[in-house]
Amino acid sequence: MVRLDRMLTVDDFKRVAERRVPRMFFQYADSGAYTESTYRANSADFDKITLEQRIGVDITTRNLATTILGQPVTMPFALAPTGAAGMQTADGEIKAALAAEKFGIPFTLSTVSICSIEDVAAATTRPFWFQLYVRKDREFTGRLIDRAKAAGCAAIVVTMDCQHYGQRHKDVRNGLTVPLKFTPRFVAELALKPRWALAMLQTPRRTFGNFAGHVPGANTVQELTAWMSQQDDLTLGWPDIAWVKQRFGGPVVVKGVLHPDDARAALAHGADAIIVSNHGGRQLDGAPSTIRVLPRIVEAVNGRCEVYLDSGVRSGHDMLKAVALGARAVFIGRPFLYALGVAGEAGVTRLLEILRAEADSALGLMGESDVRTLGARNIHSNELLPRT
Ligand SMILES: Cc1cc2nc3c(=O)[nH]c(=O)nc-3n(C[C@H](O)[C@H](O)[C@H](O)COP(=O)(O)O)c2cc1C
Repeated sequence: MVRLDRMLTVDDFKRVAERRVPRMFFQYADSGAYTESTYRANSADFDKITLEQRIGVDITTRNLATTILGQPVTMPFALAPTGAAGMQTADGEIKAALAAEKFGIPFTLSTVSICSIEDVAAATTRPFWFQLYVRKDREFTGRLIDRAKAAGCAAIVVTMDCQHYGQRHKDVRNGLTVPLKFTPRFVAELALKPRWALAMLQTPRRTFGNFAGHVPGANTVQELTAWMSQQDDLTLGWPDIAWVKQRFGGPVVVKGVLHPDDARAALAHGADAIIVSNHGGRQLDGAPSTIRVLPRIVEAVNGRCEVYLDSGVRSGHDMLKAVALGARAVFIGRPFLYALGVAGEAGVTRLLEILRAEADSALGLMGESDVRTLGARNIHSNELLPRT
């Protein structure tokens, strides 16, 4: 058994997940596109920002609670949409959603999840968010939006930086394919991860839950995969945001913003919030880290909508830096995938406790008592800002 009380950092979860999750799926999470330079920069750039320490302030009571899209949350963190989270551990999306809802933060279900929208809705009691990949088949895409609405999802996140894929070399080398091929190497790997394999055998959820049974004429895994591979829509543009918004009837969040003009365009086309994201370094290798571009996007938005950030957040301190630079909240991807692989729902809960404790401690040491009032005065230096 893993001693969760001995897990102290995101890296601890990563190390143990590597031992527990088949290499193919662990590396699917722990990889970036091409040279992985953006993947590395996302975390490294947080270290180029220092926090202001202040003393002599009464910090007896400290508050991390805030609101995201008007909904109360216990801290400015949310779980990012991650495809196939249900391959890190059986029923992974349900387990992560349960941990998030008990903790009082949003969970975002990916379009390409293993557990379906309906599976997650049936297992949870609070509204979750749904992330939409707009597919060429707009009827299918419209039905996905309708299903999210019927499930009571609180928001739709439209991902706009993934209309075709940045290659991850590790996935190619590991032979990660859909459907999975049971090569001798993969079977040998499964023998080394019996706990993972046994749990997978016990769940019926081993394919893309939002697609299986929802694509007319695609009845086998092969037919479904062939259909999915034809569905990248390279025409996705700003007018589609208005269409999603009108069909969903609730808040729409645009994910993948790295440029101030795109932030303005998202707003002009009805976005209720934006996520500054480079997909965790999985798409445009060579793109800037998100914490580097955050200030200029916050400036462009100028308070007209909430701005969230993901990519590279690995601690409560990182969250405080992003919030001090103008983000309302941060989303985490890989950290919760590692935690799922280590101990399912309990692992994600432990991870969230760690992030909360780090943020709470740092907030006090910064001489602050409320995360909602952080600002430029809390940043001591920022090597990422262009020289003036
Ligand atoms: C394994 C994995 C799968 C992902 N799948 C999706 C997805 O289906 N939809 C999406 O919008 N973003 C997806 N992302 C990107 C995340 O939403 C998020 O932008 C990224 O993980 C944040 O970086 P971090 O992992 O460093 O926290 C995925 C990320 C990972 C690591």
